[in-house]
Amino acid sequence: MTFFKQLSLQINYVFKSLFFLQYIPHAFFYSLKRDRLQRQYLPDPSANPVIQPGKLLQAQAIDRGAYFYFKQAELEISFLTADLVRVNWFPDLPPLPYAVVDRNWETVETTLSEIGNGWAIASDALSVTVGIDGSLKFCDRTGQILRTELPPQRQGEKWVHQAQLRSEERIYGLGERASSLNLRAVKDELQKPKTYQMWNRDPGGRYAPGTDPIYICIPVYLGLHDRGSYLIFYENSFRAEFTFADMAIANFAGGSLRYYMTIGEPSQLSDRYTQLTGRAPLPPRWALGYHQSRWGYRTEANVRQEVKAFQTYNLPLSAVHLDIDCQVGHRAFTIDPKRFPKIDSFTQELAETGVRLIAINNPGIKFSRKSNLFLEGQVLNGFCTYPTGELAIASVWAGAMAFPDFTNPKVRAWWSRQYAYLLDVGVAGFWHDMNEPAAFVSWGDPSLPQVAQHCLEGRGGDHREAHNVYGLLEAEAAYESIRQYRPQQRPFIVSRSGWAGLQRYAWTWTGDTISTWEALRQTVATVVGLGLSGIPYTGPDIGGFQGNPSAELYVRWFQMATFLMFCRTHSSTSVAPRTPWTYGEPYLSIVRSFLQLRYRLMPYFYTLAWEVTQKGYPPVRPLFWFDRRDRSLWDIEDAFYLGDALLVCPVVREKERSRSLYLPQGYWYNFWNDTAIEGGKTIELDSPLEQIPLLVKAGSILPMEEDRQLILHLYPPVKRAEEQRGRGAEENSYQQPPITNYQLPIQNSYTLYTDAGDGYGESRRDRFTLTQYEDSLELTWEQQGNYDFPYQSVQLHVHGVSLQQAWVDDRETPVQGQQLQCHFFHRVRFRCD
Ligand code: GLC
Repeated sequence: MTFFKQLSLQINYVFKSLFFLQYIPHAFFYSLKRDRLQRQYLPDPSANPVIQPGKLLQAQAIDRGAYFYFKQAELEISFLTADLVRVNWFPDLPPLPYAVVDRNWETVETTLSEIGNGWAIASDALSVTVGIDGSLKFCDRTGQILRTELPPQRQGEKWVHQAQLRSEERIYGLGERASSLNLRAVKDELQKPKTYQMWNRDPGGRYAPGTDPIYICIPVYLGLHDRGSYLIFYENSFRAEFTFADMAIANFAGGSLRYYMTIGEPSQLSDRYTQLTGRAPLPPRWALGYHQSRWGYRTEANVRQEVKAFQTYNLPLSAVHLDIDCQVGHRAFTIDPKRFPKIDSFTQELAETGVRLIAINNPGIKFSRKSNLFLEGQVLNGFCTYPTGELAIASVWAGAMAFPDFTNPKVRAWWSRQYAYLLDVGVAGFWHDMNEPAAFVSWGDPSLPQVAQHCLEGRGGDHREAHNVYGLLEAEAAYESIRQYRPQQRPFIVSRSGWAGLQRYAWTWTGDTISTWEALRQTVATVVGLGLSGIPYTGPDIGGFQGNPSAELYVRWFQMATFLMFCRTHSSTSVAPRTPWTYGEPYLSIVRSFLQLRYRLMPYFYTLAWEVTQKGYPPVRPLFWFDRRDRSLWDIEDAFYLGDALLVCPVVREKERSRSLYLPQGYWYNFWNDTAIEGGKTIELDSPLEQIPLLVKAGSILPMEEDRQLILHLYPPVKRAEEQRGRGAEENSYQQPPITNYQLPIQNSYTLYTDAGDGYGESRRDRFTLTQYEDSLELTWEQQGNYDFPYQSVQLHVHGVSLQQAWVDDRETPVQGQQLQCHFFHRVRFRCD
């Protein structure tokens, strides 16, 4: 960077910092007030005795489970499915149904029996043993104990729940965490096991790995050990703390001790959890493309210029995000008509080039009688208040703000109506920011006081319960609004904050990360952890939000984000503008090649999105996803699967030009050069600046598209032993012995999903099955659904073996190298060497 560029950045930084000074006085007085109110009104549980259930007195079979009477508590255990159980301790404050979607669960047969020191209630997949003291054990059908819980403790409104962890046990999830993927691995500054806070928090414009909590806390985690894996979800939105040492300890400030336990392979756990809390709907297809954003597009001309540059540099682009500087005084639901004078023709102009405009919105409403929204909210009695009845007012971007109470259904309906005019002028979607809710403070918690009052669907309650669901309910209001107002198009909402179930309404991004290599590495664990917590669509600000990444860091960040579901560059107002061309060559060409690859992979991404609607599997998966028994995979947090076929190994270290990876068992192909590699061991992979290691699982059918052509890349399930021996070391540089313990034929299927890319019309599923015989491959095609096949032709591209001859529906058809051009077929046979 030149001296002058650096100087101008410094000046810009100082200038922007001065802008923040205006918030200081109000933040100071607000912080004082928050603390005073909490001192005065926050209940103190320690004034109450600690109560345990006491002795088990009686057990009674009920529909789907059993009811247990203890001396000082009651317990209901209900099987929602054979492998998913709901455990509810009483007395409690019943949770509001914000996370769990209503469902007619299938009937489950259960049996209750008295055993040595208690009772057992069991289905044919899972049994729960209830000890005489209220301890519980969860076992699979073979009798393996997957989890052992201690009797719960209640103190005033507070609940403490403890479970024994096995020594090798790993814990994943808890929503969005800037932590290690295995949450149990982390120690705090005093070398004690880290305590994770369950309290959505804006870390204040920047965060680094280790910061906790951040924007999305969800009381769900996956436990993995030698005997199996399970998932537990606490249906309790209260402020809480979780610690994982010898014991897993969950400590809730109030609410109920109602939780759901399910057992099985990781994929089954995701399936069940999203059956319970809902699955992300299909997004519009364009949303899987590239998004460009910046806190700093102040005018229509700025945006137009940026979009033009994408065209000039031949870079695909799907959306531009406007930040608060497009608004009038940073106010909600505004776009400044002076600076965006012809917004409806502008959105149309952009749409013609395939680019959508996304507008930001923050929940706070300017505390001013000059603001109509404020007056309306007051008429509705729709703002959060202090226990004194006064409005809770805190500073955010627009100055003093009132906070809509989204736990009030009338407020949600009112909020829903505000999106309409922006939809009318062609805004394609919204990003919800500052919705933890965030408030500017001089110290302490940057949000509303825990004692702020909420409607909570009419039953009343305080912020300790409502805080974590604030962003979730705002997203629900927006989603319902767009569904009703624009029923032909799918909503696109990105929300910074949320809770269990957010996936039903919104995507998210990982917020204000700093621009460092450590933060880049952190992204993998954060995104994978979110996926295991039910949230499939997320991605980072490419290059980091706060800071100026070097060209190399930006390129490496971009290469990784190419394979995440949400791919967006965004940055703070106080850093240098950042686009794919900011760093010139060779970086621009590298970024372009990755962007183009992402767009070529669109059928694969879109099919993954469809799979989310069917199964709830996170598209971005940990390496133990397919093989939880291999311990070597449990702690890998610098690589991930994208779907079933791709294993992505981002480069997260400066100047690293080759990296190692413990490769899961089985066969793999190097995406860049088709080299076959056997897994089950640590390997070294080349990672020149132009590439990151990318592996394709043997047996995969990887769909791509280009110029209205569908290209199916076929990767044979195994390499044959003779062939392996025949090849030279230069071709298979890993020189591993070939896998020989397989039996041919081997078959793999892939279902490709297509539809119009938006709306709710017809769809089609094309199921391709690849079979490997001794010296040939066969591909069959079955079609389902009424949507017309959208491609003009199909190209088959065979990898890893040398293609000699091909027959399309028994007619010999010429091959060109490794490729074959065709159209519809039932069966293609390939002779390969
Ligand atoms: C918050 C957001 C960031 C945004 C900024 C200004 O820090 O996380 O993405 O640019 O606010 O709106």
